[in-house]
Amino acid sequence: MLLIVKDSYEAMSREAARVVAERMRRKPNLVLGLATGGTPLGLYKELIRMHKEEGLSFAKVTTFNLDEYIGLPRTHDQSYFYFMRENLFKHIDIDPRYIHVPDGMAPEIDAHCEWYESEITRYGGIDVQILGIGANGHIAFNEPGSSLGSRTRIKTLTEQTVKDNARFFKNMAEVPKTAITMGIGTIMEAKEVILLANKTNKAEAIRAAIEGPMTAMVPASIIQMHRKAYVMVDKEAASKLTHTFTG
Ligand code: PGA
Repeated sequence: MLLIVKDSYEAMSREAARVVAERMRRKPNLVLGLATGGTPLGLYKELIRMHKEEGLSFAKVTTFNLDEYIGLPRTHDQSYFYFMRENLFKHIDIDPRYIHVPDGMAPEIDAHCEWYESEITRYGGIDVQILGIGANGHIAFNEPGSSLGSRTRIKTLTEQTVKDNARFFKNMAEVPKTAITMGIGTIMEAKEVILLANKTNKAEAIRAAIEGPMTAMVPASIIQMHRKAYVMVDKEAASKLTHTFTG
């Protein structure tokens, strides 16, 4: 595991973009795993800048997103598909046929999850997976207690997540209660993973994930088993680490 501590969120985001862009230049048909949430926004902004100013091309890149709410159409402004379109896809030259986000409106969710896994395999597996981390140590919608070997599947959101999301919806009934998420086993098969975290509210999760025991109660701690993992954090998110080791 390579731990990279940067002075600021912007520097962390630039470092993540530098690694992704380097992999894309080496392999133009890179298979890139993407995450939603506030954390990767700086990375996406920097990739968009590199596309516009430095000619970084996504034309042959394939993407797979980690998760999506069940019951939200892609046009809903809280769907993760919408988030990705607004914050990345519409600003770059990606071929829409190569974009994969789980379909929260799929009529047969289990079959869709199996298809999603088989698509990842068909494209040769994910080369680089971007990850955020929840304050409780979750990755994607794999909340504490998720099987470390899990695959893409339907998950019920925790009460806390449903409550946290309520502010984005008109009423409680509209708030999704379930989601499709890549499993921890799926994520671990990515050839490289880049876990990003910033701000002090992530410091304890980062400490538990990197320095704590590997446990399903901290899903991100599985990163200790990955052969090629980068953990890129700002100073605040690194503030509870006792060893700011590299290597
Ligand atoms: P955030 O979410 O990037 O919005 O902090 C990360 C996560 O919950 O996985």
